[in-house]
Amino acid sequence: MSDLFSPLQIRDVEFKNRVFVSPMCQYSAEDGMPNDWHFVHLGARAVGGAGLVILEATGVSPEGRITPHDLGIWSDAHAEAYSRITRFIKDQGAVPGVQLAHAGRKASTDAPWRGGKAVGENDGGWTPIAPSAIAFNEGFPLPREMDESDIQEVVEDFRAATRRSLAAGFEVVEVHMAHGYLLHQFLSPLSNLREDEYGGSLENRARLPLAVARAVREEWPENLPVFVRISATDWVDGGWSLEDSVWLSARLEELGIDLVDCSSGGLVPNASINVEPSYQVPFAEEVRREAGIATAAVGLITEPKQAEGIISNGRADAVLLARELLRDPHWPLRAAYELGADADWPVQYERAKPRH
Ligand SMILES: Cc1cc2nc3c(=O)[nH]c(=O)nc-3n(C[C@H](O)[C@H](O)[C@H](O)COP(=O)(O)O)c2cc1C
Repeated sequence: MSDLFSPLQIRDVEFKNRVFVSPMCQYSAEDGMPNDWHFVHLGARAVGGAGLVILEATGVSPEGRITPHDLGIWSDAHAEAYSRITRFIKDQGAVPGVQLAHAGRKASTDAPWRGGKAVGENDGGWTPIAPSAIAFNEGFPLPREMDESDIQEVVEDFRAATRRSLAAGFEVVEVHMAHGYLLHQFLSPLSNLREDEYGGSLENRARLPLAVARAVREEWPENLPVFVRISATDWVDGGWSLEDSVWLSARLEELGIDLVDCSSGGLVPNASINVEPSYQVPFAEEVRREAGIATAAVGLITEPKQAEGIISNGRADAVLLARELLRDPHWPLRAAYELGADADWPVQYERAKPRH
């Protein structure tokens, strides 16, 4: 018996296993619209046997995109465009999820393969918004400090995006509070220097992220799960910490959030991070134990036995894989075989299924 390949039930959704596709930007959309690339890329990972396929950071507004080529979900036409993808993912027995995102000061930049720096207004860029007018780094746009009406607009944009995610056929929404994007910028004292009720104390810095979580939970049906991705630490003295993450996760649990997806970093460019296999798993473990909420672990999880151990030792409820699933979309089918679990292969591929 494999714990990794045992089903996970959250509210009315049953995930057939605990191998989830971590959100991955493809920088391949025009006007936020999914196209053939997204259909094939996401569909292939559902065919490969993952229990949940989460779409890349998807802008709740055009200005909330990291690059002009990110996916978006700010109109009903966008919602409609996702339905072919969500239908196909469900047909493979996987759950379709979407990561709802606002990039804040990291918006209006270019795809990594074009250098990842600021995109000017003449090239389709815009002036980003942020809690404070501090650029992420040299070569990044200088953001405009948000006023109260910008803050309310962000909450309403997340709410509308949640409503559209349901119309699009998604069964999980994940709120992106990690990697130095807008909601993480509010949480961290390194990027939030506000002196109003959205800055200063931990409670104040968490006010907008919690308002967004509350709005998403209110808008999303009772019977479907909401996840939140956090950066459990900024990896910098004086920055956001694991202790803060435990506090935040407990507040999220009170709001009815179902799972905290524990990543780290991304707020400042110069953090020193000791990256090694499973290096973020201790965050998922601590949040799970101390905040009493389900967690997912992510980051350099590449081996079936490694993933199995994370689940069977109670360190997380699910694992998310990113780059390993780019190398091998059929990793879940292969891992099931290696762990002696029985995974359903697509009938079209049955003749290739290895037998013990
Ligand atoms: C191409 C690429 C795009 C990514 N885009 C996102 C994203 O949209 N949202 C997000 O939360 N993380 C994003 N990430 C981070 C991954 O979800 C994951 O947390 C990270 O790659 C560590 O997992 P891994 O070691 O399995 O790759 C991205 C990573 C890659 C490689």
